Amino acid sequence: MNDPVLSIEDLYCDFLTVEGIVYAVSGMSLKLRRGEIHGIVGESGCGKSVSTRAVMGLLEKRHSRIKGSVFFDGRDLLKLNENEMRDIRGRRISMVFQDPLNSLSPLETVGNQIEEAMTSHFPALSKGELRNTCVSLLEKVGLHSGTAGQYPFELSGGMQQRVMTAQAISCEPEILIADEPTTALDVTIQAQVLELLKTLQREMKLSVLLITHNFAVVAGTCDRVSVMYSGRIVETAPTESLINNAAHPYSRALIGCIPRGRSGTGSRLPVIPGFPPRLYEPADGCPFAPRCASASASCKAAPPVTEIEEGHLVFCRHPLREALHG
Ligand SMILES: Nc1ncnc2c1ncn2[C@@H]1O[C@H](COP(=O)(O)OP(=O)(O)OP(=O)(O)O)[C@@H](O)[C@H]1O
Ligand SMILES: [Mg+2]
Repeated sequence: MNDPVLSIEDLYCDFLTVEGIVYAVSGMSLKLRRGEIHGIVGESGCGKSVSTRAVMGLLEKRHSRIKGSVFFDGRDLLKLNENEMRDIRGRRISMVFQDPLNSLSPLETVGNQIEEAMTSHFPALSKGELRNTCVSLLEKVGLHSGTAGQYPFELSGGMQQRVMTAQAISCEPEILIADEPTTALDVTIQAQVLELLKTLQREMKLSVLLITHNFAVVAGTCDRVSVMYSGRIVETAPTESLINNAAHPYSRALIGCIPRGRSGTGSRLPVIPGFPPRLYEPADGCPFAPRCASASASCKAAPPVTEIEEGHLVFCRHPLREALHG
């Protein structure tokens, strides 16, 4: 469990735009341990999708500049060429996106799309083997085998999300990256899709990176969580340790929004006074300082990292130590 299966080290992603350089990810580091569900939580625009798309080699190279390392199976994914990356993407690391209708083809049946995902990596599979595997994948994600003959638009949002998940696990990847897989769904269906993720993680021994805006989703689903702000991880910890002892002022503000009493998967992040920094300037010092009640002049320098409990790291010059509850 302690062994990282994916290690993102000091990742930078800049976009070269007509308005100037957008510094979307600025020194992000994260270790995904084998067999865990690791949440990445943070406000809109903090770099959750850009960083994971960079890991998958999905950022358009012409307009972006990527630095850092992403170690997987002894290799730095950022150094691989497109052919080498194609062997990994979908086969060993796969991704589920927020909006199934944008990711599934409207013109192909569900069965054909799942089978295509498999043939691209296992061209020797026979038609019969493909059909059988497709049916068992559909059943695994809780869909009837007859769904194979349907088109995506004939299915509900929750069913489409399950189809995408079946496609993503079809080549038995080691890592699944789920980018806001439940945001577009209503609360009950969200809970079902998250349960499915947990079951698949257990049965297939997957390691999962689960991106979300929603801290309550993290609380109910993840073993560990990394809080992201302005292109960097500001705190990372086992979920329980973060909920009980969050030390970064930004993490505390996020936790403040978990509704009490219910699982609350429908909650959104609270409004924190002030604005996230403009990403047109390179990161300098602590990005949260302008919004932070604890900030001092020294926060203009890069924050140190403190391990406040085992595996609980906080990147802050003034970590909050007093107990959160009671
Ligand atoms: N192709 C691009 N060109 C320029 N800027 C971009 C590009 N893609 C993303 N960005 C910017 O990078 C920043 C990070 O975007 P990203 O999509 O990673 O945010 P996010 O954390 O996933 O947000 P959300 O929760 O809304 O999905 C944003 O400010 C976004 O506007
Ligand atoms: Mg996103």
